[in-house]
Amino acid sequence: MTAAQSICGPLQGEGMTVVYKQIVPEQPFPFPWSKDEFFNAFPEARLGLPPYGIQPIDLSDIQDADLVMVVGQSWFLSPSLPIQSFFTNECIKQYLCGRSVIFVNACRNMWLKTSHAIKQYVKDAGATLVGHIVLQDNNAPNLVSVITIIRWLLYGKKEPTRLLPQAGISDRELAEASRFGEVIRDTWRDRALGNLQDRLLAAGAIKYKPSVLFIEKIGHRMFGLWAKFVRKKGGFGDPRRRGRLNAFCIYLFTVLFAVSPFGVLFFWLTYPFRHIPRHRNEDCSVK
Ligand SMILES: Cc1cc2nc3c(=O)[nH]c(=O)nc-3n(C[C@H](O)[C@H](O)[C@H](O)COP(=O)(O)O)c2cc1C
Repeated sequence: MTAAQSICGPLQGEGMTVVYKQIVPEQPFPFPWSKDEFFNAFPEARLGLPPYGIQPIDLSDIQDADLVMVVGQSWFLSPSLPIQSFFTNECIKQYLCGRSVIFVNACRNMWLKTSHAIKQYVKDAGATLVGHIVLQDNNAPNLVSVITIIRWLLYGKKEPTRLLPQAGISDRELAEASRFGEVIRDTWRDRALGNLQDRLLAAGAIKYKPSVLFIEKIGHRMFGLWAKFVRKKGGFGDPRRRGRLNAFCIYLFTVLFAVSPFGVLFFWLTYPFRHIPRHRNEDCSVK
C-alpha cells in the first residue's frame, strides 16, 4: 500500500471522489540506485535545479477538485527532483493557483528543509498550503536508519535482518496513516480547512525530533557549499564531477558516523537554551 492510498482510503465514497495521478519524470530515476547515480542527483536536488521535467499530467478530469494532495520524498535535505519538477511546471502552477494543497512528505527523518521549500513552491503557485504530513522512519535510531535506507536504495533490500529493522516507513505506520484521511474528511465536512494542520498535528502528523532537525539544519548549509563546489565541474550527469562527488560521499559518511553523535550530544547539553516549543510551532505550521 502506498502512503497516498492509505491516507485517501477514508476519503473515498460517502459523496467524495479521489482521483490519483502519478508524477512521472521525463527521464526515469533508477531503482535500486547505483552509488554514482545516487550521488549524481545531489547537487541539483540541493540547489533546486531539476535537470528535466515531468511527463504531462492530464488535469481535465480534476478541474473541479476541492483539494490537492501531493505526496513525495526528500532527497538530500530537499524535495526530490521529480517533486521539484512538478512544482515548477507551468501547467501545474496554473492548476494549483487558488487551490488548497496538502503535502505528504515520505522520508527517512529529515523533512524540515523540504517543508520550507514546499511552502515556497505552493506560495509561488498562488495556492494555499493547508496540511503537512511527515511519514518517516520511526523504526530505527538515526544512524541505523542510514544503514537500512542505503540497503534499500542501493541494494533493493527492505526486509529486516537479524540485526537491522525494516528500512523506511514501517508497514504499520503506513496503514495507520489512514487516520490522517479521516481528519481531512471530517475537517472538510466541517468546512474548517483553516484548522486542518492543527487537527493533523493532534493526530500525530509530524513526529518532532529536535536533535535530528538540529543536524539537518547544519547539514543543509554544508550541502549547499558542496553542491556549488561540485557544479563548478559540470551539470547533471557530467563525468568530470565524479571526483568531487566521491569526496562528498566520504565527507557525508564521516560526518554522519564520526561527527554527528557529538553534534547531538552538544544539542542535548544546550537543550534548555533552545526554545524548542517555539521552534516546534514554527516548524510544524503551514504558514
Ligand atoms: C537520492 C535520495 C536522497 C535521499 N535523501 C534523503 C534525505 O536527505 N533525508 C531523508 O530523510 N530521506 C532521504 N531519502 C530517503 C527518501 O526520502 C525516502 O524515504 C526513501 O527513498 C524511501 O522511500 P520509498 O519507500 O518510497 O522508496 C533519500 C532518497 C533518495 C533516493
